[in-house]
Amino acid sequence: MLNLVLFGPPGAGKGTQSQKLIEKYGLIHLSTGDILRNEIAQGTTLGLEAKKLMDDGKLVPDEVVIGMISNKLDANADAKGFIFDGFPRTVAQAAALDTLLEEKSTAISGMIALVVDDEELEKRLLERGKTSGRPDDANPEIIRKRINEYNSKTTPVAEFYKEQDKFTSINGVGTIDGIFDAISEVIEKY
Ligand code: AP5
Repeated sequence: MLNLVLFGPPGAGKGTQSQKLIEKYGLIHLSTGDILRNEIAQGTTLGLEAKKLMDDGKLVPDEVVIGMISNKLDANADAKGFIFDGFPRTVAQAAALDTLLEEKSTAISGMIALVVDDEELEKRLLERGKTSGRPDDANPEIIRKRINEYNSKTTPVAEFYKEQDKFTSINGVGTIDGIFDAISEVIEKY
């Protein structure tokens, strides 16, 4: 199986590149942000609880997102592999993912991190906020909070995969196709 963690700060291009990767490699895309927004749209209790945190740029509790991913792995037992987008976002989530995959006799093939500077991230997210309707894209203050959450809680996840010799970083500034080619080149080595 090919199991890829696509990593990077808010607005780095994880969702954009995931769409192209699922087409090329036939993988299942698991975005915890998309799953949570779907819960919100359906008005579930989980969604209502998550919405308060998401709108404020904060992370949802580990046990909530780990449970969601566990359900998705069970529901896609025949998958050729997965792209994890926006997950794991804490070291606890990364350790839990290793355990879940081990139970299914598989493992993460590698993490690919998209590197984009804060100024570019803010520009992209404010632009997307004009049409996306995402409340967490709506103002610079919330965007900065999301970037701060990423810097404090999520960047240590890169170390987790570096220790396993599964980490590659790629410049996430440039054309979407150029970045996709660079990601594909890394995947071909897995
Ligand atoms: P989530 O939905 O995961 O959002 P995010 O990580 O903030 O990422 P985005 O979707 O904003 O950005 P992206 O990297 O996918 O970029 P995109 O391709 O869209 O999470 C939202 C919230 O949910 C979190 O804040 C948290 O509250 C909660 N949550 C989710 N997962 C969680 C977890 N595991 N644990 C706890 N809480 C969790 O691109 C952005 C824009 O840039 C687009 O408009 C795109 O068109 C444009 N763009 C893309 N590539 C380029 C390029 N190369 N050049 C120019 N523009 C580009």
